[in-house]
Amino acid sequence: MGTVAILGAGVMGETLLSGLLRSGHDADDLVVTSRRPERAAELAARHGVRAMGNVEAAEAADTLVLVVKPQDMGGLVEEIRDHVSPGDLVVSLAAGITTAFLESRLPQGVAVVRVMPNTPALVDQGMAAVSPGRSADADHLEVAAQLLRSCGRVVQVAEKHQDAVTAISGSGPAYIFYVVEAMIEAGVVLGLPRPTSTELVVQTLFGAATMMRETGQHPTVLREQVTSPGGTTAAALRQLDDHKVRAAFISAMEAAAMRSHDLASGNG
Ligand SMILES: NC(=O)c1ccc[n+]([C@@H]2O[C@H](COP(=O)([O-])OP(=O)(O)OC[C@H]3O[C@@H](n4cnc5c(N)ncnc54)[C@H](OP(=O)(O)O)[C@@H]3O)[C@@H](O)[C@H]2O)c1
Repeated sequence: MGTVAILGAGVMGETLLSGLLRSGHDADDLVVTSRRPERAAELAARHGVRAMGNVEAAEAADTLVLVVKPQDMGGLVEEIRDHVSPGDLVVSLAAGITTAFLESRLPQGVAVVRVMPNTPALVDQGMAAVSPGRSADADHLEVAAQLLRSCGRVVQVAEKHQDAVTAISGSGPAYIFYVVEAMIEAGVVLGLPRPTSTELVVQTLFGAATMMRETGQHPTVLREQVTSPGGTTAAALRQLDDHKVRAAFISAMEAAAMRSHDLASGNG
């Protein structure tokens, strides 16, 4: 992997940086940049890595991880393009920025990998999907996957599926928080103290997620196990079906994928 530069180390950049350090990556091989020099200096002091300007970092690193906001990507690539070597790997975490966009602005033949991460990476439970650009081979993909594995799980998808990934796992934590908020509110409506309701819901979510992961059973099977005929769960699920909650989830994620597609096509 060589020297890794994280260009635009904001929330997601620092998440990746701290994941790499926790997983044993040598701080001497990590470089960070930011628009504001004081932000890069703060990260360098906190994590023991080197802070540099974008150009210097592009020259020093073999793997360049671009973590600026999508609207800042054009400017960043313009700044570094003459300092990226043909053997370097460029990994982009920006939503909606295609490998073609980057390849057309970087020297010919530079390997590009596109990644859609998500915020549970903050607690090493991230879900990232990686897609290779035209010049990225299996080794490049493995380097990108290794970077992301430092803070969670990684799958490989064709780039045409990145809008769906954005809709499912990229935005996904927000839908889960939304459901959790509604369940906590329901507990309060039913008379539970808010902290008790919160504890019940968060641990139930954690327990259900752990059950799915550890048993490997389909969620339908697990749901049926808690749904006795004529019982309390069946009464609740009937209400969810009557309110078309399942259809609403599917429509919501279709809307997210369409929005992702529009943003990627510059129709933001
Ligand atoms: N957060 C998420 O949930 C999430 C999920 C999936 C994907 N992503 C992707 O991750 C990327 C970063 O998101 P974020 O939430 O980490 O944003 P963020 O906190 O705003 O971080 C972006 C950082 O880039 C810096 N920056 C901007 N232009 C720069 C330049 N030309 N050179 C160097 N640094 C520059 C910004 O500096 P200033 O602070 O000075 O502006 C900021 O520190 C986005 O492209 C987003 O699509 C984020």
